[in-house]
Amino acid sequence: MINKVDENNNFLMVAKTFKGLEEVLAKELEDLGASKIQINNRMVEFYGDKALMYKANFHLRTALRVLKPIGEFKVKDEHELYKSVQTIEWDEIFSLKQTFAIDSVVNSESFSHSKYVALKVKDAIVDQFREKYDKRPFVETEDSDIRLHVHISHDDCTILMDSSGDSLHKRGYRTKATKAPLNEVLAAGMILNSGWDKKSTFIDPMCGSGTILIEAAMMANGIPPGIYREKFGFENWKDFDADLFEDIQEEELGTEAVEVNVLGSDVSEIAIRIAKQNIENASLSKKINILIKPIEGYNPPQSENGVVVTNPPYGERIKKNEINNFYKVLGDRFKKSFQGYSIWMISNNLDAIKNVGLHPTQKMTLFNGPLECKFLEYQIYEGSKKEKNQ
Ligand SMILES: C[S@@+](CC[C@H](N)C(=O)[O-])C[C@H]1O[C@@H](n2cnc3c(N)ncnc32)[C@H](O)[C@@H]1O
Repeated sequence: MINKVDENNNFLMVAKTFKGLEEVLAKELEDLGASKIQINNRMVEFYGDKALMYKANFHLRTALRVLKPIGEFKVKDEHELYKSVQTIEWDEIFSLKQTFAIDSVVNSESFSHSKYVALKVKDAIVDQFREKYDKRPFVETEDSDIRLHVHISHDDCTILMDSSGDSLHKRGYRTKATKAPLNEVLAAGMILNSGWDKKSTFIDPMCGSGTILIEAAMMANGIPPGIYREKFGFENWKDFDADLFEDIQEEELGTEAVEVNVLGSDVSEIAIRIAKQNIENASLSKKINILIKPIEGYNPPQSENGVVVTNPPYGERIKKNEINNFYKVLGDRFKKSFQGYSIWMISNNLDAIKNVGLHPTQKMTLFNGPLECKFLEYQIYEGSKKEKNQ
């Protein structure tokens, strides 16, 4: 069994995220009290105790999953993999009656198929149960009680338990979505990366199903992202401490409500209907104001430090000159009506972005699913930049 426990009895965990969100995730972990935080590609490693593991699942806005390593081996071939997996006492981890699933990620010269690796690990686990009890636990890919991950990098193999179960982006409030909804974790990461102070006016004028608005309002009102989830993976673990988890859930219920202007609009009546439903699901109807309105006619309230975070159409389904023209209209609207605002926009359409006609003050690369996007900031100063500096 792996012994990644430090001098304070804290154990190693790995929080997975999207590329480009590692820094904000590390900051979230620091705020939660995690120690020995280390940023890697699409993941952040940290140490903590069981309470921190529950908190991480309940409070992290930019993590997709929180994993706990339980075995680490050198493996050169499938036989070594099988034998190594059998050194773990699996009946201490889960029971015969529980279902399990295995995800695998392989980057190795010795193992070419990740599905085959998952199959070998499954065989090793099932055979161990069968030898001991003459019975076996069953695999359930969709809704399993226990989720395991196998990572093989060259000949380094790690087995991890998934304390989240379903991906943490599944907050539980979005029952309906428009055509291209943003992943909730990406939306939260964009807001955190924008540096919004959680007090100034916040707007998404192309809000679709309302994901960015809901994530922003939850943040400003101190509502944990996990509050509407029905279940976390660790609730099926043998060592689950229900009282501890209840304490962690209750700890946050007394958070003070704050008065922040969170505003949204969209040209589509259907989108606004869907957004309304999702906002209601998140009990945020009193905290978010939305209306049907094209951006072309949208006038935001005056604000010195207002922030816009938005996800305009990328133009996959429309003609090139139409989308270019739309981005030009966007830029014109920003210049004309959004003085005092910092505007953050995500798009993968680099040609269209050029038509905004504003110089980005910050630029980062983020991935919206498989699409490599730019997340850009445009500062719209009142008067000229020169005046502002003076
Ligand atoms: C990529 S979707 C936004 C998805 C949203 N972030 C979500 O999570 O559901 C782009 C949205 O822009 C809206 N839109 C397109 N043209 C618009 C316009 N001229 N004014 C306002 N909204 C517009 C579309 O109706 C669509 O809902």
